[in-house]
Amino acid sequence: FIRLLIGLIAAYLLGGIPFSYLWVKVLRGTDIRKCGSGNVGATNAYRCGGLLAALLAALCDVGKGYLAVLLFAPLSPAPAYAYAVGAAAILGHVRSPFLGFRGGKAVATSLGVLLAFHPWGLLVAAVVFAFALLLARRMSVASMAAAVAFALVAPFSGRDPLFVSLSFLLAFAILWLHRGNIVRLMEGREPRLF
Ligand code: G3P
Repeated sequence: FIRLLIGLIAAYLLGGIPFSYLWVKVLRGTDIRKCGSGNVGATNAYRCGGLLAALLAALCDVGKGYLAVLLFAPLSPAPAYAYAVGAAAILGHVRSPFLGFRGGKAVATSLGVLLAFHPWGLLVAAVVFAFALLLARRMSVASMAAAVAFALVAPFSGRDPLFVSLSFLLAFAILWLHRGNIVRLMEGREPRLF
């Protein structure tokens, strides 16, 4: 039991590494939380640190989600434990212990986690993401659309009902984390990415 608990804590801590904050700090010396949307995510790393910071942040955030599942899920044969590890990593990203329990909006880290569970579902989500981004030109719209698309195809993943439920929960969480973006979109104040 202790081993399983340590695995969850380790996944949470790994997910908590705030790569967007770190890359923008290293490359530009700026505090990402005080710049742009203030979000600790790759989109805002692009605004505050440029393309390189954004690419590195996105890669590291996806990587930490994937790595958390890869490293710690094998501690138990139960799929439910693997999902809990993934959830712990995502929670770490959103409520980072290294940033006073604040953090990002879960998109890139969820991508990494879900890569380990349902890759073709992500492919569908990626197509929806690309279309939404081209049409709306706003990362928040594309992120939310992709999260909803992923939840809608989750029932066809061949995984258990718990995975499907968690996928819906994740989509709701991502929408909730974007509530500030939704208000800005409705008021016509959400900035375009390009
Ligand atoms: O994943 C975050 C993105 O969807 C929105 O980021 O900085 O525009 O709030 P931001």
